[in-house]
Amino acid sequence: MTAVRKAVLPVAGLGTRVLPGTKTTPKELLNVVDRPILSYIVEEAREAGIEHIVFVTGRSKGAIEDYFDHQVELEAQLEAKGKTDVLEAVRRDLPKAGEMSFTRQMAPLGLGHAVWCARDIVGNEPFAVLLPDVIVDSAPGALAQLMRAYDLVGGNIIGVEEVPASETHKYGIIDPERTEGRMSAMKGMVEKPAQGTAPSNMSIAGRYILQPEIFDILESQPRGAGGEIQLTDAMATLMGSQRFTAYQYEGITHDCGDKIGLLKANVALALKRPDLGDAARAALQGLI
Ligand code: UTP
Repeated sequence: MTAVRKAVLPVAGLGTRVLPGTKTTPKELLNVVDRPILSYIVEEAREAGIEHIVFVTGRSKGAIEDYFDHQVELEAQLEAKGKTDVLEAVRRDLPKAGEMSFTRQMAPLGLGHAVWCARDIVGNEPFAVLLPDVIVDSAPGALAQLMRAYDLVGGNIIGVEEVPASETHKYGIIDPERTEGRMSAMKGMVEKPAQGTAPSNMSIAGRYILQPEIFDILESQPRGAGGEIQLTDAMATLMGSQRFTAYQYEGITHDCGDKIGLLKANVALALKRPDLGDAARAALQGLI
């Protein structure tokens, strides 16, 4: 089985749900506690054994590339002042030379189109996709859990989580054929099914391992729900010729692309922090 070495992180979306904050700051660089959302995602990818990350960026997202480079003056200042802990935090996400690539999606035509933009850099090998506005709080990380499933069954692996039946119209939903433990063989999937028509309450949660044949399908994929080129539609087509397995990962999912999701992530992850938990709890109790 070919190892999964590369991950695609699509970061070209407009982040309209959290405007106006995202007018000049990429959504993926908004802080959760004291580091950008992207920092958590890159950490999860590395923990899962990913060797190369491909960012699909867009206009006004240049700050993302800068975040993963040295800030020479800042680092020199911190060094001169002996602030070694802050310096370490500033450097924690830096890649080794050549470990990251950046390509542009020139118009936000949808997640499927964003993934397709990475085709030449990924090449002919399986790859992971991580939605960089979804933090999954789990140990081991969600992608590491999907990798274990991939090692067992190969093919395409889709990370899923349960959602209330009343919410299924907001998500990509899988149609499971047979479920054993956390793994389900899949027979279909649908993007944002009309209320009452969802084939299950398992939603596609933003972590994928895909085979490179998805790129050929995306090349001619027509627009789907919301007028966007949907990754879910392309996966549904690929399912005609390849095995798809859903894996219900263990962990708490925070949708940081949504106002309340972002707030919840900040609160939940601050409360868990050994250095901040007590102070965060006291501050929150004071408010409530
Ligand atoms: P979302 O739909 O959550 O992001 O896509 P968005 O479009 O930025 O959000 P809203 O709905 O306007 O608030 C999930 C991920 O896919 C990326 C986004 O950057 C986000 O991280 N994406 C989405 C792209 O890279 N290109 C697209 O065309 C659409």
